[in-house]
Amino acid sequence: MTKTTRLSPNGINTRLAHTGHDPEDFFGFVNPPVVHASTVLFPDAATMVSRNQKYTYGTHGTPTTDALTSAMDELEGSAGTVAVPSGLAAVTLPFMAALSAGDHLLVVDSVYSPTRNFCGGMLARFGIETTYYDPCIGAGIESLIRPNTKLVHTEAPGSNTFEMQDIPAIAEVAHAHGALVSMDNTWATPLYFKPLDHGVDISIHAATKYPAGHSDILIGTVSANEAAWPAITKTFSMLGICAAPDDAYMTLRGLRTMGVRLARHQESALTIARALEDMRGVATVLHPALESFPGHEIWKRDFGGSSGIFSIVLDVADPARRQAKAHAFLDALQIFGLGYSWGGYESLAVHANLSDRTIAMPPEQGPVIRLQIGLEDVEDLMSDIERALAAANAT
Ligand SMILES: Cc1ncc(COP(=O)(O)O)c(C=O)c1O
Repeated sequence: MTKTTRLSPNGINTRLAHTGHDPEDFFGFVNPPVVHASTVLFPDAATMVSRNQKYTYGTHGTPTTDALTSAMDELEGSAGTVAVPSGLAAVTLPFMAALSAGDHLLVVDSVYSPTRNFCGGMLARFGIETTYYDPCIGAGIESLIRPNTKLVHTEAPGSNTFEMQDIPAIAEVAHAHGALVSMDNTWATPLYFKPLDHGVDISIHAATKYPAGHSDILIGTVSANEAAWPAITKTFSMLGICAAPDDAYMTLRGLRTMGVRLARHQESALTIARALEDMRGVATVLHPALESFPGHEIWKRDFGGSSGIFSIVLDVADPARRQAKAHAFLDALQIFGLGYSWGGYESLAVHANLSDRTIAMPPEQGPVIRLQIGLEDVEDLMSDIERALAAANAT
């Protein structure tokens, strides 16, 4: 019986504490070794030709990357996982794996924005056409599927505006037409949503965020079911986009505490989101776990929790005053940093740029401010936001 099998009936924090590495495999040390490797030696010429040994070259995996990817397999319920050098690389790898010249791709309009650059740039150059769809489309996606549609890319909740998607309904339609389904599952992590259990074929993580958790690493993971895994692993090998050993190690280290960190992110974010619903100067709070949020029922049906990032829409009817108000809010913050990314221990704020949307249009009430709620004391964060709102209201 392997350690993973022994642990599987346990609670999530027990599994996170032990998954991915069996101390018996490495002299009893509780952590796996960090293997820095390009060359792997073979015992003889015949093995060199047959490659019949576990490790053959650094790009194809090491004991360190295996520890991380097997932990992700355990959490996602996947047939295989690869670790790549960024979340963006994790988003684009499945496209390269599933699509060929002449194919058609469906992408949710609330997608992480650089995904769009890849579709309109690289994929268009290779003769692959992308159509964007409404995040609320559900089974209605059938009307957009063409004979050459090979992949439906989902992300729930959506970037910056947090629209929920009916993932099981989309997956059912996509599969009926022979298309694969990928999902950027970064927001929920496998702790709060397991895409492969809801019909998704490929689950993507910017592990830069909650798994790594400390704003010091760029890394991504792609976990696939039996159907999608051969193409994912083959394309990963062809591209040579392997995560670095120190980053893989640190991400596994981050996974050990991800459950407790996420619980705290969740609790603080919900406390703040609820308080913001009643505050002057806030038109709407975009957070799927709030009862007022349009996609709340889907979130409740499919997700086991919510993480620490959501948005507020400032109440600024006059479009000409939106930027000044948003900047007044951001500039008054003293604890929240102004910076991109999320999932780290520290709070961040950003004025979301939604100018590339074509279907899921920006809210009409005012500018969208995205808040990443860190692990600081929630009262301090609340005071900081109150100060920022007062500044925006006075502008
Ligand atoms: C939803 C989502 N997916 C993917 C990424 C890309 O991750 P990375 O910054 O590691 O490239 C991000 C980054 O912000 C993101 O928000």
